[in-house]
Amino acid sequence: MPRRLTPGPFTAAAVATLLAVALSLALRAQEAHRPTPVAPGAVLGPLPTTPADRAAGAAHFAAHCAFCHGPRGEGGKGPALAVPTLPRAADDAALVRIITLGLPGTEMPASRLSAPEIAQLAAFVRALGELPLETVSGDPARGAQLYAGRGACATCHTVRGRGGPLGPDLTAIGRRRSAVHLRRALLEPAADVPQSSMPYRADVSLPENFLFVRVTTRDGRDLAGVRLNEDPFTLQFRDTDGRIHSVVKADLAALRKERGYSPMPAYGAVFSPAEIDDLVAYLVSLRGTP
Ligand code: HEC
Ligand code: HEC
Repeated sequence: MPRRLTPGPFTAAAVATLLAVALSLALRAQEAHRPTPVAPGAVLGPLPTTPADRAAGAAHFAAHCAFCHGPRGEGGKGPALAVPTLPRAADDAALVRIITLGLPGTEMPASRLSAPEIAQLAAFVRALGELPLETVSGDPARGAQLYAGRGACATCHTVRGRGGPLGPDLTAIGRRRSAVHLRRALLEPAADVPQSSMPYRADVSLPENFLFVRVTTRDGRDLAGVRLNEDPFTLQFRDTDGRIHSVVKADLAALRKERGYSPMPAYGAVFSPAEIDDLVAYLVSLRGTP
């Protein structure tokens, strides 16, 4: 007589066990993928620098960082990383921490890479620092005169608290952006309007969440300006004359968000190439705290 198996309860138990194991493995895999932030001031071991680590670090950089910091760390939307010292990443722990968590409130994002991958990346970024410095040929003092004079930049920008509020604060622009990006901002202002992924601009001081809005009220008035604050029901913006408007969205006939539009004039028509160099040199020299 064949042995009768009683699969019912046995199978159920097995399935439950398997599920539990699979779940814990999945959780662990996820855990392994969530980078552990390095505490400020933590002491790290030496960064990995074998040829294989270098190659992996270069590949991570190309995939995750080159887009903003340039293929060789020469800078772009983000500052040049091919510099001997990084102002906010003086030691390796600080560098790993910035790569892991990003710089909240800026366009520098947090990373989804694992801790070993971030260590490879940090080693690669350090190696970039051994490359020659980003050079700017202009004269910062002449640039400062053009800024205050013919450029009338201060009508829209503030440096150390002085100037107009329409454009982003430039007090620390030289630390936040590369010379390449600054030149482009002057020649083609609309090419790369700073923005974050936030739908509503909660923090007015955030320099990179720039958005130009145009509204038509129900009584037919057209208004336009730079968004200051927005929530699902209301919108506040500053027009080009500096007046602040607050509107209830339900009262509007139209609301248009001009992503990628800049009210800043293109300065290639105003300044000679040498003068643009001077302005870039001046902007690069602005490294204070706002
Ligand atoms: C979407 C664009 C963007 C990407 C992608 C990006 N960064 Fe950044 N990064 C920035 C910007 C912008 C800043 C300057 C932020 C500020 O201070 O306003 C910055 C700052 C930094 C700094 C600080 C430099 C200093 O001042 O000391 C480091 C280091 C850095 N990034 C490394 C990386 C690495 C490594 C990667 C790839 C994992 C990366 N970034 C990806 C935009 C980016
Ligand atoms: C009519 C107002 C206005 C004037 C005048 C103006 N800007 Fe701007 N500027 C803006 C606005 C608004 C932005 C943000 C949108 C953008 O990126 O174009 C901006 C962006 C910038 C940026 C890029 C900031 C970043 O984080 O990427 C730089 C650099 C800059 N301006 C420098 C200057 C300089 C230098 C002058 C004078 C030669 C000048 N601006 C004149 C309004 C102005």
